[in-house]
Amino acid sequence: MEIRVAQAAPASFTTDMLIVPVAKGDTPRGTAAEVDQALGGLLADAMRRGEFKAGAGAVLCFPSGGAVRARRVCFVGVGETAKIDAEVLRRLGGRSARTVNNARLESAAVAPLASDSPFAGLTATDYAEAVVTGAVIGVYRFDTYKTDEDSRVPDTLTLLTLLCPDGQRGAVADLESGANYARIVSEATNYAADLANHPSAVVTPTRLAREAKELADRLGLSLTVLDKEQMIAQNMGGMIGVSQGSVEPPKFIVLEYKGATSAPVVMVGKSITFDSGGISIKPSAGMEEMKGDMTGGASVLATVRAAAELRLPIHVVGILTAAENMPSGTATNPGDVLHMHSGLTVEVVNTDAEGRLVMADGLSYAQRYSPRLLMDIATLTGACVVALGHYAIGLMGTDEDAKTALTEIGEATGERLWTLPLWEVYEEDIKSDIADVKNTGGRAGGTITAGCFLKKFTGNTPWVHLDIASTAWASKATDYLPKGARGTGVRLLTGLLRRLSS
Ligand code: BES
Ligand code: MN
Ligand code: ZN
Repeated sequence: MEIRVAQAAPASFTTDMLIVPVAKGDTPRGTAAEVDQALGGLLADAMRRGEFKAGAGAVLCFPSGGAVRARRVCFVGVGETAKIDAEVLRRLGGRSARTVNNARLESAAVAPLASDSPFAGLTATDYAEAVVTGAVIGVYRFDTYKTDEDSRVPDTLTLLTLLCPDGQRGAVADLESGANYARIVSEATNYAADLANHPSAVVTPTRLAREAKELADRLGLSLTVLDKEQMIAQNMGGMIGVSQGSVEPPKFIVLEYKGATSAPVVMVGKSITFDSGGISIKPSAGMEEMKGDMTGGASVLATVRAAAELRLPIHVVGILTAAENMPSGTATNPGDVLHMHSGLTVEVVNTDAEGRLVMADGLSYAQRYSPRLLMDIATLTGACVVALGHYAIGLMGTDEDAKTALTEIGEATGERLWTLPLWEVYEEDIKSDIADVKNTGGRAGGTITAGCFLKKFTGNTPWVHLDIASTAWASKATDYLPKGARGTGVRLLTGLLRRLSS
């Protein structure tokens, strides 16, 4: 989808569908009132009769009959004016773009709310970022494996224009930069969602390494991929122990974008391409969702891609700990002890707690870069879903500034986080009788004890841990977020990199 910005009056702009935001009230105001006047009061009539209440996401479309230049006019509710925020605008973008596609139209333009308050109290940059994010993520669908006619029809929307009122000449450049940022980050988000939606037979560790290679070639990044022998040489007991039950060879993928020469931000993403649980096998119900257990890694890959495409002046290293967790005669057994890259020994009491094992090797390997910040992102614990439901990411770590920044960015982007403690007392639960540590602490506080386990592999490096088990996979779509995989974390991580760049 191409995104443009144009300085024009909504009624005289030529496009297939003019999108007009409407705030809640008895009658249309601002741009909605101006456009409705040209239409002879169709909207005012619908509002008076209570047929259109302008709640966020409500849609009312009319053919223009030549009353305005656009072929059709689509009024989209944004709720109460005082409550309009970035989330409402993302929903507006998503709803609008989907409506244009459903009508099989090719172009659309989004009118400002009113000429005196065009961006609903947000800055022009934030406004454009929100609307474009909603539109680009809103049209995402995963239909690679559908063969019926209807599913094969490509989307029609190819050009979306943000309209800027005449009196706001200074806002054009800001709208353009917000729109450009949002397009790049949202396309990267959709890329991450694709990787997680593909079956595990397709997105294997080898395939993830190939994806990294393609990004490296296209964007001029450095890439190192460690194979099994190299991992053995590096004493990566976590990577080896988790992958040894599978016929899929593990890959330890390191992708580096050097937009600055300073110490890097290193991001480690859990990349279990399928988590069967191993010998501690999972119940069958819902096991297919475990093809998405590489979402953390997909988000890291996509975030490095976005940082490079945006040419952010920052040094970033992305690490993917790619392996498949399978039961077999060669698999790790409960009770086995692994010798980790860091030198610590781990008693594996449950082979389904595999994420922390591969992540531990990723975190200790990362320290060779002397990172300014070490971040990890992982679909780590079912307990995180129990604690936070599906609407918040679990946040833990030792870097208070990064935690505060991420919380703020999460609030702004809609990828919200909630902090859990890592008090030392929890470490009691992961003490092993025979090794330095064991890989589970039981049901109580499962997200926290997993965080405590990871902490043992971070040394003195400032570190944050994101448990995205709660948000990575959705059972239903919203106005702009898809069902299934949604590329969780890409907007958040890129937002943090942008902030750390300036
Ligand atoms: N990949 C799972 C966590 C998960 C669960 C992600 C649900 C997304 C949705 C992880 O590897 C796992 O199996 N964790 C175990 C840990 C337990 C054995 C200590 C869990 O949460 O049950
Ligand atoms: Mn598991
Ligand atoms: Zn897992």
